[in-house]
Amino acid sequence: MPAKVIDCKAIAKEIRESLKMKIREFEHRRGMKLCLATIIVGGDPASVSYVRNKEKVCIEAGLKSLTYELPEETKEEELIELIKSLNVNPEVHGILVQVPLPKHIDEDHIANMIAVHKDVDCFNPINAGKLYRGEKCLIPCTPKGIVRILKEVNAELTGKNVAVIGRSNIVGKPAAALLLNENATVTICHSKTKNLKAILLSSDIIVSAVGRPKLVTKDMIKEGAIIIDAGTTMVDGRLVGDVDFEAAIELASMITPVPGGVGSMTTTMLIENVLEAAYIYE
Ligand code: GUN
Repeated sequence: MPAKVIDCKAIAKEIRESLKMKIREFEHRRGMKLCLATIIVGGDPASVSYVRNKEKVCIEAGLKSLTYELPEETKEEELIELIKSLNVNPEVHGILVQVPLPKHIDEDHIANMIAVHKDVDCFNPINAGKLYRGEKCLIPCTPKGIVRILKEVNAELTGKNVAVIGRSNIVGKPAAALLLNENATVTICHSKTKNLKAILLSSDIIVSAVGRPKLVTKDMIKEGAIIIDAGTTMVDGRLVGDVDFEAAIELASMITPVPGGVGSMTTTMLIENVLEAAYIYE
């Protein structure tokens, strides 16, 4: 039987509807709008398009969205000054610094500058440390969305073999940590992994977040596996994931599509994180 294609858009829409009510409630209680400040440095087309989309989704949900578009040659100190002013601005509840940043800016240094309680991407090492320790913190949006999808489809995680492909700080590593916190047996695979096929063939759940089309092929998938494809690559003007979707659908039990999959959950989790950030110090 072909896999069930997980309707992430519908899941995201339902979550956004319930968030809208909470956002209105926040506005009513505090007499101010819930606000996300986004900073983008330089004009990388993919980053500009991500930021525009985030802005649109935030506004639709009832948030105030402040976007700071800084030129490529912005100095690190100037960016830090802006972050510091947003950190202490009581009308800003969440801060997002779009990455990648230009090469002359130290991303690790910037991550340290974002106030822990406004860090909706979990960039600050204090938040990242809490995440790995299983402590309460703002959870990075894409990994949070991945786990939420798995929960929405009632996937059993405890004791399951989960392969996470990709070891980025923004998706792969935190996704692995969250799944470990859910009692899964997690294997992190990456470009130097020697036996990817063997690992995937013994995995009940595959999470791929690399950005390499057709990285996961049919011969690597165990029958009945659940596949979460968080990869996104533009190929001939079309967005594609890491998994050979047409082939995988014949073997998997459930699979997320690209587009219309994990991406739609990421922005929804961002809204949820801004709301959580606003309530942290209440
Ligand atoms: N660049 C690509 N994805 C993301 C994301 O989720 N957050 C930030 N800050 N930058 C990104």
